[in-house]
Amino acid sequence: MNTVRLGIIGLGNIGGFHADYLLNGKVSRCELTAVCSAAPDKLEKFHAKGVKVFGDATQLFASRAVDAVLVATPHFQHTTLGIAALAAGLHILVEKPVSAHKADAERLIAAHGRNSKLVFAGMFQQRVEPRYEKIRRLLQGGELGRVVRCNWINTDWFRTEAYYASSAWRATWRGEGGGVLLNQCLHNLDILQWLCGMPERVRGFCQLGRFHAIEVEDSVTAYLEWAGGATGTFVSSSGEAPGANRLEIVGTRGTLVLENNQLRFARNAADMTEFSRTATQGFVKPETRVEEIPFESATAPHALMVQNFVNAILDGVPLIAPGADGIHSVELANVMVYSSLLGQTVELPMDGASWEKKLHQLIAESKLVKKVVPVATDDFAGSFKK
Ligand SMILES: NC(=O)c1ccc[n+]([C@@H]2O[C@H](COP(=O)([O-])OP(=O)(O)OC[C@H]3O[C@@H](n4cnc5c(N)ncnc54)[C@H](O)[C@@H]3O)[C@@H](O)[C@H]2O)c1
Repeated sequence: MNTVRLGIIGLGNIGGFHADYLLNGKVSRCELTAVCSAAPDKLEKFHAKGVKVFGDATQLFASRAVDAVLVATPHFQHTTLGIAALAAGLHILVEKPVSAHKADAERLIAAHGRNSKLVFAGMFQQRVEPRYEKIRRLLQGGELGRVVRCNWINTDWFRTEAYYASSAWRATWRGEGGGVLLNQCLHNLDILQWLCGMPERVRGFCQLGRFHAIEVEDSVTAYLEWAGGATGTFVSSSGEAPGANRLEIVGTRGTLVLENNQLRFARNAADMTEFSRTATQGFVKPETRVEEIPFESATAPHALMVQNFVNAILDGVPLIAPGADGIHSVELANVMVYSSLLGQTVELPMDGASWEKKLHQLIAESKLVKKVVPVATDDFAGSFKK
């Protein structure tokens, strides 16, 4: 095989966005040969361009028109469509979150385990943003020493009531399985665990519908603890303007702060713990030099991720975001809400089945009556953020 024949399932905001750059040849050795949408009006323009169109994914899977699919539907279908695609012998690239909840992610990963020759990737395009790559290199190179704290104030995900009213699945337990954590913050949660690993325990404090007429969380404060004693907080909201995005990682050899598109490293001349142990005076502290670390923004990060997926299929190169990694961000999103509803700290790995049961209860007890008001003029690209 020299070229990957790709199909997209779901042609909403992000599916349409992926289709555009693929049709414009932004991913080499990849041809968009088919699309599938539950909304028939989305299909006409692709049919006119010679792309095969399907109203039902099972027909796409059986068509032999594709080698791989990109699943870009609402969250719950990621698992069912992903499993069905793998069973049909297709490679899969699944939009974030890889599943709506942890137990579903386990099912999807198990299905991949039964078809492990196929490539399963997740669309976590922030992993190719140089600012996070630089932080990861500093951490892995030991330049921060031992991490003792990680705080992320991530409140610049402002969304209006019009956004939530724009489609039936949004911000509902039934359609989405969660709120700002599972949707907007999923990228940040992926980066958090990519940089610092998974915590050992989490205590979440979530407010449901604090700022909007929705039933899921739109305001979050969570406390996290890692093995070895590092602690941290993750704070988010989709109701605060202007909001803030400040990531602070404190290590024994210095502090990194990413904020306002600037990355600053306050580097300690000595390991602070060692310094504390050996200093003979009480009010001294290690000398610190502040370094500004320059970075660019990735151009076309989504296309880079699809290129990596294609290269993994054709050349066997390692994936930037293996699909199985996607369970971690789902677990963090789930556990912050679950812990909040329980009113207690939850140890990780969390019991996915217990959260699934609770989620089904929330779905069954939902009294939300949603009036959908489509928004025709939004600039969707405005939703990708720093
Ligand atoms: N990586 C990113 O930057 C990014 C950005 C936005 C959204 N997303 C993710 O992409 C997914 C879709 O989000 P969106 O904003 O495009 O949603 P959307 O509501 O705009 O579009 C979803 C589309 O899927 C279609 N659909 C639903 N079920 C289907 C099925 N079984 N077969 C075919 N089509 C089906 C719907 O008709 C709709 O057109 C979500 O999981 C979201 O979290 C990722």
